[in-house]
Amino acid sequence: MTQPMLTLNDGRQMPQLGFGLWQVPAETTADTTATALRLGYRLVDGAAAYRNEEGQGDGVRASGLPRGQVFVTTKIWNNAQGFDATLRAAEEGLSRLGLDHVNLLLIHWPCPARDLYVDTWRALIRLREEGRALSIGVCNFNAPHLERLITETGVTPAVNQIEINPRLQQPDLRAVHARLGIITQSWTPLGGGHSFSAPAITAAAKRTGKTAVQVILRWHIQIGASVLPRSTRKEGLAENLDIFDFTLTEAEMTAIAALDEGTRCGPDPATFDMM
Ligand SMILES: NC(=O)c1ccc[n+]([C@@H]2O[C@H](COP(=O)([O-])OP(=O)(O)OC[C@H]3O[C@@H](n4cnc5c(N)ncnc54)[C@H](OP(=O)(O)O)[C@@H]3O)[C@@H](O)[C@H]2O)c1
Repeated sequence: MTQPMLTLNDGRQMPQLGFGLWQVPAETTADTTATALRLGYRLVDGAAAYRNEEGQGDGVRASGLPRGQVFVTTKIWNNAQGFDATLRAAEEGLSRLGLDHVNLLLIHWPCPARDLYVDTWRALIRLREEGRALSIGVCNFNAPHLERLITETGVTPAVNQIEINPRLQQPDLRAVHARLGIITQSWTPLGGGHSFSAPAITAAAKRTGKTAVQVILRWHIQIGASVLPRSTRKEGLAENLDIFDFTLTEAEMTAIAALDEGTRCGPDPATFDMM
């Protein structure tokens, strides 16, 4: 199946839809990954902190797809921030994945109180130069963190992976991304189910014959974000992939925009500092 691709600011291409591996048990991650890739996904989002990178790499190999057809993401955890620690952590991550490079390497959180994220970013720039990561980006960075990276290193992240769902739409940060040429990638895209029964969602689901989940994922696609739903069920993975045969109207997009309450499911990046 043909999926939309996004062009990153380094010229590389990234599938717009992916699947996430947070909280996927290590012992089933290879199966989940291979199942998703066989269904048609081409982007797998992992992280050192998810403790399932071995399964992520095994699943990529078990899918039977050529490595060049799979977009593999991993992330540097907070306890590995700083230039040397990040270089070491990236090599350890590649070793767990069993890969010689990832497509996208991200800083997982800025942890601003520790003030190491610029040094961490310099390590990612080095890793990109060495071909260990084809593209580099960040997660959970607010506008001042992004501006500082760019001012101090001259390198703009390709992606900022942030919490986005109908209850937390972050329009201001998305506008900053658009201005800087950064792709928004949505985590916890389903928002814990909080909007599933909102009339804006159910009405669009009824009109299109789709589920609430598919309407929400389609909304992410139409705001131009890359989106990373997670399901450990084959039916859920298939449902979340089946979002490219319908379009939400402008009125439906406006109605969903009105669901924004600025309420997070996850932690606040300004203060989150878990090691
Ligand atoms: N960078 C970061 O800081 C960060 C933070 C959080 C997440 N992420 C990434 O974003 C990914 C997605 O976020 P998430 O895992 O928090 O949440 P999510 O995808 O918004 O939601 C996952 C939940 O929704 C359920 N679900 C999925 N598809 C469904 C469907 N079609 N119908 C009904 N229920 C469905 C899943 O249950 P079932 O398994 O039973 O289907 C699971 O309980 C993560 O896996 C991770 O890769 C990144």
